[in-house]
Amino acid sequence: MNPEKPVTFCVCHKTSFADLKAAKVTSLEDIANRFGCGTGCGSCKPYLVRLLETGETEFDVIESSYS
Ligand code: FES
Repeated sequence: MNPEKPVTFCVCHKTSFADLKAAKVTSLEDIANRFGCGTGCGSCKPYLVRLLETGETEFDVIESSYS
């Protein structure tokens, strides 16, 4: 694991972003329907958006706007 990019999976559904990419997901809705990711706590959503936009599967922590 890259210590600078520790976010690599949806915790709620125990699915890695690499697995989602390998499944050729096309949208947040597609991911939710097929894997459930984004429908639990929702905290993986910003990373799912980045995955869809950039194809990256490892991310640094996106700071919450609630702090
Ligand atoms: S981490 Fe993906 S829904 Fe909670």
